Amino acid sequence: MAASSTDIPSLRRYEYKGVTFESATSPIENLEAMETFAMRDGDIVIVAYPKSGTHLLFEILHGILHGKALAPDDFGFLAALEFTLPRPSGLDVVHARLTSAPVSSPRVMSTHLQRRLAPPGLAQPDKDIKVIVVMRNPKDVAVSYYNFEQRNPLAQSQDSWDDYYREFRDGKAVYGPYYDHVLGWWQMRDDPHFLFLKYEDLNRDLTSSVKTIASFLKKDLTDDAVRAVAEACSFQTMKKRYAQSTSKLLQCITRKGKIGDWKNYFTLEQNREFDADYEDKMAGTGLTFNFE
Ligand code: A3P
Repeated sequence: MAASSTDIPSLRRYEYKGVTFESATSPIENLEAMETFAMRDGDIVIVAYPKSGTHLLFEILHGILHGKALAPDDFGFLAALEFTLPRPSGLDVVHARLTSAPVSSPRVMSTHLQRRLAPPGLAQPDKDIKVIVVMRNPKDVAVSYYNFEQRNPLAQSQDSWDDYYREFRDGKAVYGPYYDHVLGWWQMRDDPHFLFLKYEDLNRDLTSSVKTIASFLKKDLTDDAVRAVAEACSFQTMKKRYAQSTSKLLQCITRKGKIGDWKNYFTLEQNREFDADYEDKMAGTGLTFNFE
């Protein structure tokens, strides 16, 4: 989720229902407000643990819905629920976009929240909403998150990789344990309101993924239109666009855009430990990831 770097004061971490949050971007009143946030027919929601492809999904949705790429400073479209409602946390334009969108137009929004903390109408939809869950293998998530915290002008973390690895492993990263997030949402895999995507599939074949998303949204796109969206959302194109943004945060969203960068960070011992934990947490869930 993007923000203008001048807008948000320094970050302070706190725990809410056992999950670590940052007070400046997700103040407690916003988390509490999730319990009563009402979903609306037509809403489109991106659900993703941080660093799993949220911005890529926003870009794809913008391309599909509006037939053109998102402008580098259109922060209003990058609307994260817990960042902005009811307190805008400096993101007034996003807040306004979510609260004043005409009923006739679909509200596009995102959340990094795990399912048990999400608005009830999102966790168990009863309205005509569409939820796109994007997931990424946890080793690349950890590496991407670590780099983001280092580069993010608002967090300015001094943690070493080893420190960050332990934080992520212990479920203390901001937004909490990775496995609680993916497995909580995964329970909805057979619910027709939901589409589950993997970052690795988007990364390998963006055109097919755009087609899948358009079809889920019941948008009839020509092959040329699908190709145009995929081209506008390629890593290099997005990186160029984000480099022009005035948001320092957006500038550090597009880093490498690769699968398997974890190999440049995980030590052998960390990898062994992580694999054992992964096997343990994922056994019997039917959810698998590509790490290569
Ligand atoms: P890396 O740090 O591994 O490069 P999010 O949007 O959820 O914050 O996710 C950010 C991650 O998605 C970053 O991963 C970023 O580079 C990657 N990403 C952003 N746009 C992308 C694109 N068009 N294609 C592939 N990866 C992209």
